[in-house]
Amino acid sequence: MFDTLEGLTRSHSCNALTAAANGVEVVLMGWVQRRRDHGGLIFVDLRDREGLTQVVFNPKINPDTHNKAGVLRDEHVIAVRGLVNLRPSDMVNPNLATGEIEVLVEELRILNSAKTPPFELEDYKVDISEALRLKYRYLDLRRPSVMKNLLFRHRAAQVTRQYLNGQGFIEVETPILTKSTPEGARDYLVPSRVQPGQFFALPQSPQLFKQLLMMSGLDRYYQLCRCFRDEDLRADRQPEFTQIDMEMAFITEADIYRVVEGLITALFKELKDLELTTPFPRLTYQECMDRFGLDRPDTRFGLELKDVTDLVRQAEFARFREVVDQGGIVKAINGPGLNKLSRKELDELIDLAGVYGARGLAWVKLQSQGWQSPLAKYFPAEIKAAIEARLEAKEGDLLLFVADVPAVACTALGQVRLSLAEREGLIPEDTYSLTWVTDFPLLEYDAEAGRFAAMHHPFTAPREEDIPLLATDPGQVRARAYDLVLNGTEIGGGSIRINRRDIQQVVFEALKIGPAEAEEKFGFLLEALEYGAPPHGGVAFGFDRLVAILCGAKSIREVIAFPKTQKATCLVTKAPSRVDPEQLLELALRVED
Ligand code: AMO
Repeated sequence: MFDTLEGLTRSHSCNALTAAANGVEVVLMGWVQRRRDHGGLIFVDLRDREGLTQVVFNPKINPDTHNKAGVLRDEHVIAVRGLVNLRPSDMVNPNLATGEIEVLVEELRILNSAKTPPFELEDYKVDISEALRLKYRYLDLRRPSVMKNLLFRHRAAQVTRQYLNGQGFIEVETPILTKSTPEGARDYLVPSRVQPGQFFALPQSPQLFKQLLMMSGLDRYYQLCRCFRDEDLRADRQPEFTQIDMEMAFITEADIYRVVEGLITALFKELKDLELTTPFPRLTYQECMDRFGLDRPDTRFGLELKDVTDLVRQAEFARFREVVDQGGIVKAINGPGLNKLSRKELDELIDLAGVYGARGLAWVKLQSQGWQSPLAKYFPAEIKAAIEARLEAKEGDLLLFVADVPAVACTALGQVRLSLAEREGLIPEDTYSLTWVTDFPLLEYDAEAGRFAAMHHPFTAPREEDIPLLATDPGQVRARAYDLVLNGTEIGGGSIRINRRDIQQVVFEALKIGPAEAEEKFGFLLEALEYGAPPHGGVAFGFDRLVAILCGAKSIREVIAFPKTQKATCLVTKAPSRVDPEQLLELALRVED
């Protein structure tokens, strides 16, 4: 009942034919995107991965074929053989690569039928729920705007491989069934049948393996690798995601910056035809916190945080005075032209600051008659003027203040800055702003656990001159770590690693990882460090994030073939799911309901 492909070979994709092919016989294959009947002619938009071609069934060319085309419906799978024909000039579609031509069909083969899809696959139908899209992802991917992201991702992978191959990197695969690597998330565990009661962990990253490869003399490693992290999901996080993972031996930070800047520059050139300027700007962690309130600054727009502690301490405003007297600070931003914000909008910003721990968010509207603000009466004119000068404020602006301990003041105001910029459209579109963030602290104090934790991971080298501080003032030790931030998203991070056992041990001690625990978790690394570990370091990029930003996708789910939902489930396969009791028995596991 269906035709076969016997004797027919595809000659072109559905995006290939232009006026130059006029008169050529072609064979196209794909899906019926749409069928229209017009005055005895049947028009079909034929779709494949690459694009669309209009094919025409004309009873005068072949009445049987025209007749047969009468049964075609959306998403039927067909092959056509026919002649390329120039469209009449008033029918040319300049929005379509193949818009100058059509194919006059001589032979039609119907290869399969299709049920009516659960949503329309034409691109302009965008209001489809994500749940439905993900359940029928194979249909969703037929939509050109979605397919385009996968093709773009493929090219990004090719450019990456080509660049790194050219720099002497060797692609090596590392194990998926492995031991936990501490990247800060929960592990996905896989029970062992052969060793009942024992578990593999899926890698949160290939961190330790790539270090071992440096110790093995591989010199330059890379991998487009999958990483698995059981953590709270957001638009830019998936439980399994892909890294461009790299490691180099006999290098310092400067070598890594050079290679990475070359890679990112190549990606922008090949994929966006944009020339980036190198070296990329660098900011220290402290500068980022001070000026942007977070360690992944979006530097596409201003609204930078300014410290006004010295000015406000001269005023009689009790709230600020108390905080300052207790060693806190007051940070402020200036929203240019934003004095029009309503009480409701201000309240939303106050709530947002509260989410990040601030006890308040003070505001000043700069009107023609001066400060309109609950604060106005506490501030003498000269202090007002000094604050305005520091914030480069003028009539029409909105000033916002948070007084708190430095971390809270910066973080809360940093989030207000982002939210304000987003809602007021202050972020320029189609601009790309890259920043290296350097000089991270090695350790951060985890108040809940009552001890220090590695800010990056425990294998990151401390600055040589800070090593003595590990024993005396661990919070002050600076790491040889760096992140690369693109438009406010951390797209990559890495570090120079510890390559000496004694230093690794001191760091473990600072992290309160005792000798027994160190041996049990990382004994193999400690031992390897004793067999001639070269100086080495590396970096890993969130490939999904990078691709999403480059192709303008809102979420990394848009650039992953089969992404998981916010609840870490796969709607196509309905994974995760229950397993047979026998399987559990084999694994010596029991599930408590
Ligand atoms: P890190 O943990 O910073 O470093 O990860 C590197 C980059 O991976 C991306 N990323 C994610 N992308 C999507 N979903 C997630 N859940 C997710 N988590 C992280 C981010 C991040 O910058 N082994 C170290 C690298 C090194 O030291 O060389 C590591 O994995 O873009």
